[in-house]
Amino acid sequence: MDSHIRFDAREGVLHLLDQRRLPEVEADVACRTPDEVVDALKTMVVRGAPAIGVTAAFGCALAARRAAAETGADARKRLEAEFDHIARARPTAVNLGWAVARMRGVLAAAEARGALSPEEIVALLDREAYTLQREDEALCRRLGHFGAELLHDGDQVLTHCNAGALATAGYGTALGVIRAAVGQGKRIRVIADETRPFLQGARLTAWELARDGIPVTVACDNACAHLMSRGMVQAVVVGADRIAANGDTANKIGTLGVAILAGHFHVPFYVAAPLSTIDAATPDGAAIPIEERPAEEVTHMGGRRITPGGVPVLNFAFDVTPAALVAGIITEAGVLRAPYGEAIARALATRGGEGAR
Ligand code: MRU
Repeated sequence: MDSHIRFDAREGVLHLLDQRRLPEVEADVACRTPDEVVDALKTMVVRGAPAIGVTAAFGCALAARRAAAETGADARKRLEAEFDHIARARPTAVNLGWAVARMRGVLAAAEARGALSPEEIVALLDREAYTLQREDEALCRRLGHFGAELLHDGDQVLTHCNAGALATAGYGTALGVIRAAVGQGKRIRVIADETRPFLQGARLTAWELARDGIPVTVACDNACAHLMSRGMVQAVVVGADRIAANGDTANKIGTLGVAILAGHFHVPFYVAAPLSTIDAATPDGAAIPIEERPAEEVTHMGGRRITPGGVPVLNFAFDVTPAALVAGIITEAGVLRAPYGEAIARALATRGGEGAR
């Protein structure tokens, strides 16, 4: 798949494949300002933790262009405010704040070496955003390689939401594991949970895998217990939006139910995520902020109301799976195993190395 996040540095335009319209329509949304990037993040033109991190980084590069129009201290203040605005677009995925902090950090380090012109700031942030994008795809391939070892020839793997190329810079985390296993010659079939209400599984995971020729079947979210009770699922692999220091994992609403069922039916439940999804500053799942999204995502389908007017709905976008239900956390540093507090601390200390295998 061509990259779904394409930055044109010369024109100062970020082109995003509009994930709201898939699979029927493949069309881009063009963002020219940080506000347009924030809007694209909030409305889920682009979604998935690593992908929103990469998008936020390019949003920072656009913010540098806007700040360049102002002078002196005002320009710097303006830039900081834009960074904050981008980092707040969605609350649960830690990659968003992580990416903005990285852009801030590279700028602060360069400024400590000497004053920068507005053009130099733009060039610096462009470079860092492109680097972050390239790195993310490479990390996915690396974690895919580690995770593939956990899957066996003939397995049917259940996944929830979309943790694929569309949710990252490319290749995917949970789907990266599946792609890598298929690349090793294993015959893997996938069950994509539909994933109400945004239907990331039915629309996006099924679209991606079908394009790659990987056998995929869509199932309603509430079919999971039945499928497991019939022995139709050999492993679960999901992505993550934020992993706390103790291994508790926030992912798309419904993931917790899948994990509990996997525990009941003795199906291994794996989480696949880059180390940038681990938030050492969040001690456990209870401290992870859970996004609540607009009621219309639940009350309407295809523009048509499906619930009675005036009846309130709950639209929590994420839930938290306790570390005790996780068989392994697949990262670019290897597969982390319980006790997760120690394994995570070790992996973060040797970030990028082989130490966590
Ligand atoms: O609301 P979304 O679509 O951004 O939620 C995405 C998920 O929950 C994914 O599973 C998670 O971000 C992992 S993406 C590699």
